[in-house]
Amino acid sequence: MLQPVIKWSGSKRKSAEFITSFIPKTGTYFEPFLGGGSILGALGNRPGYAGDQIPELIGIWDLVKSDPSFLANSYEKSWNGLQREGHTYYYKVRDRFNKKRNPEDLLFLSRTCVNGLIRFNTYGDFNNSLHHTRPGIHPETLRSILLEWSKIVSKTKFAATDYENLLKKAKLGDIVYMDPPYMGNKGRYKNEQFDFERLWQILDDLNKRKVKWILSLDGKSGDRDYSKALSAPKELSKDAYLLDGESSAFPRLLNSRLDNVTESLFLNFKIK
Ligand SMILES: C[S@@+](CC[C@H](N)C(=O)[O-])C[C@H]1O[C@@H](n2cnc3c(N)ncnc32)[C@H](O)[C@@H]1O
Repeated sequence: MLQPVIKWSGSKRKSAEFITSFIPKTGTYFEPFLGGGSILGALGNRPGYAGDQIPELIGIWDLVKSDPSFLANSYEKSWNGLQREGHTYYYKVRDRFNKKRNPEDLLFLSRTCVNGLIRFNTYGDFNNSLHHTRPGIHPETLRSILLEWSKIVSKTKFAATDYENLLKKAKLGDIVYMDPPYMGNKGRYKNEQFDFERLWQILDDLNKRKVKWILSLDGKSGDRDYSKALSAPKELSKDAYLLDGESSAFPRLLNSRLDNVTESLFLNFKIK
């Protein structure tokens, strides 16, 4: 299995095989909520566009594509510094990243911080701490991961942009995979930061433009509000699957119970 360049919260690594089985083999591929890119990676080398609103993350992806050796060498240098000087080195790199925002520092931080989780505070500063009990992935291991990914993303154009903007280029025959942020918990329909109403409008627009799309929605609900949350994508799509928290299977969304849903997948086309 392909190892990730960076760990990303809400990564689709575990369901990547299932999700990619729905992605048509032809057409330009669009992935506007890229994060750690687990679906892009599982899909393999294919022409397309990938975007995210975090510029430093896209900076990492651009370097994975154009200069993986630079990223690998930079990581090796920082990793050696960390083994030599300990936690002061980590915090030096963190301060430098928060001033200069260079992607290679973000990669190092993500590989040595607590649980590998990239986390920014309200001022946009990276604020996760060093994972004291682990040395961070070995530079040679990361080098081979970066070189492998570099081939996989060689036909992808990356953009640090809002998803609506990236999707303007999509046309008939293309395919879009969308994995927006978590839908919120306790059945709350709207996530404070992410405007799902705007997403529903964009899905409607893609339908009118006859662009194929697949949408992942994550959330957990102990009450019935979640079914309300899913009613808009259900109406806009032609097929849907639910991952039920206990069985880890993806049954088709027909009369399934909605009270234990953690992950769902909507398609505006039918496979069979
Ligand atoms: C659930 S994560 C994607 C995870 C990814 N599928 C993976 O496997 O790693 C959602 C991503 O959407 C990005 N995002 C949130 N709002 C966005 C927006 N308006 N435009 C573009 N990207 C956005 C976040 O920065 C985050 O990386």
